[in-house]
Amino acid sequence: MRSIVLVMVAAGLFISGMVYAQSGPEVLKAKGCLNCHEFDKKKVGPAYKEVAAKYKGKKGAAGELVAKIKGGKGHPKIEASDAELKAAIGTVLSTK
Ligand code: HEC
Repeated sequence: MRSIVLVMVAAGLFISGMVYAQSGPEVLKAKGCLNCHEFDKKKVGPAYKEVAAKYKGKKGAAGELVAKIKGGKGHPKIEASDAELKAAIGTVLSTK
């Protein structure tokens, strides 16, 4: 019984390690976000600093933004996995 639990924990760590293999800044670069966005000034889209300020303290903002970008509604559609978008949005929302 104990060994089964250990195997499950190990597998969980392995999977979460893979999901977060790409960091936010890497995704922003690799997925072309930075073609349209900059951190501190407006480009095609708003500066990430502005976005972070707008959503500061808002509950569920990250999930909302991931859904928005994934769905391509009101935002150019970006081909990226949920995990990649989550990492990217995490970086966006922590921009100061
Ligand atoms: C083709 C240009 C383009 C690309 C590529 C792009 N964006 Fe945007 N983005 C925009 C524009 C235009 C807006 C403003 C309209 C809007 O709010 O959706 C925007 C808005 C946003 C917002 C603010 C949305 C809100 O509700 O305030 C976030 C967050 C964002 N983009 C993140 C990303 C991320 C992360 C990526 C890469 C995975 C990305 N964008 C790629 C053009 C782009």
